[in-house]
Amino acid sequence: GCFSQSFLAKRYKIYYNTQTYFKEDRIMIIVTGGAGFIGSNFVFHMLNKYPDYRMICLDALTYAGNLSTLEPVMDNPNFRFVKADIRDREAVYKLFEEEKPDIVVNFAAESHVDRSIENPSIFLETNILGTQVMMDACRKYGIKRYHQVSTDEVYGDLPLDRPDLFFTEETPIHTSSPYSASKASADLLVLAYHRTFGLPVTISRCSNNYGPYHFPEKLIPLMIANALNDKPLPVYGTGENVRDWLYVEDHCKAIDLIIHNGRVGEVYNIGGHNEMTNLDIVKIICKELGKPESLITFVADRKGHDMRYAIDPTKIHNELGWLPETKFADGIKKTIKWYLENKEWWETIISGEYQNYYERMYSNR
Ligand code: NAD
Ligand code: DAU
Repeated sequence: GCFSQSFLAKRYKIYYNTQTYFKEDRIMIIVTGGAGFIGSNFVFHMLNKYPDYRMICLDALTYAGNLSTLEPVMDNPNFRFVKADIRDREAVYKLFEEEKPDIVVNFAAESHVDRSIENPSIFLETNILGTQVMMDACRKYGIKRYHQVSTDEVYGDLPLDRPDLFFTEETPIHTSSPYSASKASADLLVLAYHRTFGLPVTISRCSNNYGPYHFPEKLIPLMIANALNDKPLPVYGTGENVRDWLYVEDHCKAIDLIIHNGRVGEVYNIGGHNEMTNLDIVKIICKELGKPESLITFVADRKGHDMRYAIDPTKIHNELGWLPETKFADGIKKTIKWYLENKEWWETIISGEYQNYYERMYSNR
C-alpha cells in the first residue's frame, strides 16, 4: 500500500493537535456487542492503542457472545463490562447516565444469515429496534459520535459474470435475507436520525471478516473446526459464491479511523479487494491443516443465496488513508494458528447448545 504506518501516525497527530471535537478529559466509548467476534477484536485494538480511553462493553451475551473472550481485559482499569440488552431502554439509559459516553460504536446484532432464514423476528428486534434505543439514548444524553457497524450485504449481490462491478456507497440498497434487510433498515434509521434530529452519525459497511474469536457457525471457523475433527465440510450449492474477505484487525482499524476522522452523516465501505470462492477457501483450509479434500461435501444451497460481494473501498482510502494491511495468505495462517492454540475456546462452544443448531441446519441437508 502507499500509506505507511508512520503516515497514519502523523495523520493522528495532526488530528489530535487540531480537533476540538472531544472533551478535555478522557474519551469514553460504549461498544455494544463487544463480547462477539468483531466487537471483542475492536475492544482489544482500542485498549491497546489508546491507553487513555475508557472502553465500556455493553453486551447481552446471547449465544454469540462470550465473556471468556474478554477475560484478558476484565482487570484492565480502563475497561468495564455491562451485561445488558440494547433493546432494554431502561438499562441503556442508566448506563448513559453513569458513563456519559463521547462515542457509541454499535456492533450488537444478530449476525448469522442462516439463522435469520430460520427465524427472522429476533433480527428485526435486535438489529432495528435495538439500534433505535441506542440512538434515542444518544439524543437524550448527548453524544459526539454514534457509529453504526453495518455490512456490505445491504447492497444485495453482484453477478459472477461481471467482475468489473463493485459496491460503492452509491450502490442502491437491495437486500436478500431477513438479516440483510434488518441491517439495511437500521442504516436507513441511522441516516434518518441524522437528518431529522441532527444526530452525529457515521456508518461503515464492511465485507466478510475472518480472524480470532470468529463464532464457529460461520464459514471459515466452521470449516477449521470440522476439518480438525475429520468431519464433513458442508459447502452450500456448488461453492462458487464469492466473498471479499478482510482480516478482522483491518476492519477494527478502519472503524478507529472513521470514529476519529470520518465525516458526520457519511457512509464508508470497507473491504479488501480479496475475492474468493467458498470452495477455494475450504480447499485452502484443508491444505493448511493437512486434511484431504475428500472431506468436502456439497449440501443444499442457502435460500436466496447471494452470489458475489465485492467492495470498492476508494472513499475510505482517499478520505482517511485506510488500506487493508493483512494479505489473505498471512491472515488465514494466523487465524488457523489461533484456532489450534485456542481449542478450548471453540470446543466449549461446539460442545454445548451449538450441537442442536448444527443438527437442525446440517443433518439431512
Ligand atoms: P457476532 O454474532 O459474533 O457478535 C454479536 C454480539 O452482539 C454478541 O456478543 C452478542 O452477545 C451481542 N448481541 C446480540 N444481540 C444483542 C442485544 N440485543 N443486546 C446486546 N448485545 C447483543 O457478530 P460479529 O460477526 O462480530 O458482527 C458484529 C457486527 O458487525 C454486526 O452488527 C454485523 O452485522 C456486522 N458485520 C459483520 C461482518 C462479519 O463478517 N462478521 C461483516 C460486516 C459487518
Ligand atoms: O458480508 C458481510 C457478512 O458476512 C456479515 O454481514 C455477516 O454478519 C457475516 O455472517 C457474513 O455473512 P455470510 O453469509 O457471507 O457469511 P457465512 O460465513 O455464513 O457464509 C460465507 C459463505 O459460505 C456464504 O456464501 C455461505 C457459505 N457457507 C457457509 C456456511 C456456514 C457454506 O458453504 N457452508 C457453511 O456451512
